[in-house]
Amino acid sequence: MSDPQIIGGLEGVLVTETRLSKVEGAAGVLTIGGFPLEELAPNATFEEVLHLLWFDRLPTASELEELRAELAGLRTIPEPTTDLLKAAALKKLPTMDALRMGVDTLTLADADPSDVSSEADMIRVKSITARIPTVVATYWRLLHGQDPVPPDPEIRHAANYLYMLQGEKTHTDAVRALETYINSVVDHGMNNSTFTSRVIISTRSDIVSAVVGAIGSLKGPLHGGAPGPALDMVFEIRARADASGKDIQEEADIWAREVVEGGGRIMGFGHRVYTVRDPRADVLGTAAVKLFEGVDDTALYDDATAVEEVVLDVLAELKPDRSIKTNVEFYTALVLHGVGMESDLFSPTFAVGRVGGWTAHILEQIAEARLIRPRAAYSGELDRVWLPIEERGNGGSRGG
Ligand SMILES: CC(C)(COP(=O)(O)OP(=O)(O)OC[C@H]1O[C@@H](n2cnc3c(N)ncnc32)[C@H](O)[C@@H]1OP(=O)(O)O)[C@@H](O)C(=O)NCCC(=O)NCCS
Repeated sequence: MSDPQIIGGLEGVLVTETRLSKVEGAAGVLTIGGFPLEELAPNATFEEVLHLLWFDRLPTASELEELRAELAGLRTIPEPTTDLLKAAALKKLPTMDALRMGVDTLTLADADPSDVSSEADMIRVKSITARIPTVVATYWRLLHGQDPVPPDPEIRHAANYLYMLQGEKTHTDAVRALETYINSVVDHGMNNSTFTSRVIISTRSDIVSAVVGAIGSLKGPLHGGAPGPALDMVFEIRARADASGKDIQEEADIWAREVVEGGGRIMGFGHRVYTVRDPRADVLGTAAVKLFEGVDDTALYDDATAVEEVVLDVLAELKPDRSIKTNVEFYTALVLHGVGMESDLFSPTFAVGRVGGWTAHILEQIAEARLIRPRAAYSGELDRVWLPIEERGNGGSRGG
């Protein structure tokens, strides 16, 4: 029997079934837990979305309050986690690395790591989801020479995250924008970090390991690491326009050609599954414009949309065979900048949202109980003959 065909990057390969989200790449439609993204993301609280993903339905008012309070009660991180974050801050590590290291220590918060019951797993799912914002905010403040702000159990997940970062209760528009963002990125089919978490848990490893692996995957610029560079691009083009006196469109055109003709990639554009505009870009674009209008300053939004338009034209001209459109990261950058975050916080904040999807997929994979183990076609040598080291020439072995 001949080997099955290799599908590079597993593009288009179906690996399992999921009830969590449906990504329709050619139509630009994203469904999360049965709801169109456009309906769910701007209306739901993050706790409602978590309930939807973990338990497959929206909560009643009392269930929602119960889940909110339960998560709020799990926010505090173990002292050794804070000590580790202090050591990371001394080395000025990127926040994403500190998050990965911090989450690894959350096994310390586990009452009995050897308990593999579904009840214990559910507590772990909630505990990790509740504590990720605390790890990020604690590290961020330590990195900037500030005392960490303890979580406030009275306020919701998104509001508390901003509060722990900024040290003051934030304007409700900013909280709503952040909540719309984390809802928008909570799940997205079999993306790389989700797949990573499922691969790890499929060996019957533990949930902390699966989430740590997912964070490592999310960090890469081809996955969750793009929004910082996407915003930097807008700022750089703006600075060039200020310096040259040309308009921003003209500078964007020069910049985009330089990058693409030099073989580079423009962050915030292109997607493995979407061949049309990423639907999350629209939801986040709407959230961003509301946010900027609320503070009466739409200059950055206007510049960003001007850059976006030009980049899309340049990509269509220089990569005519590809359909490269705006992806989620471009507007992520605008929303998160608008709520007062610096770019080093963008990917960790992506994790604050995506952990809802990771944990729900982990639960699905545990229920599926099937080891993920694909194959590779061997392309190396065969029939080499072992030679003692003193007899080896350059090749180190004899034979084919
Ligand atoms: C996300 C991404 C990896 C998906 O790409 P993919 O399906 O793997 O497609 P490929 O990497 O095979 O690229 C296909 C072609 O399009 C080009 N391309 C894809 N995205 C591009 C971009 N953002 N800028 C410039 N060229 C791009 C590639 O250079 C390649 O061109 P070639 O065929 O002439 O060599 C890719 O679009 C990308 O790198 N985007 C920028 C990073 C980003 O925004 N990531 C966040 C994703 S949500």
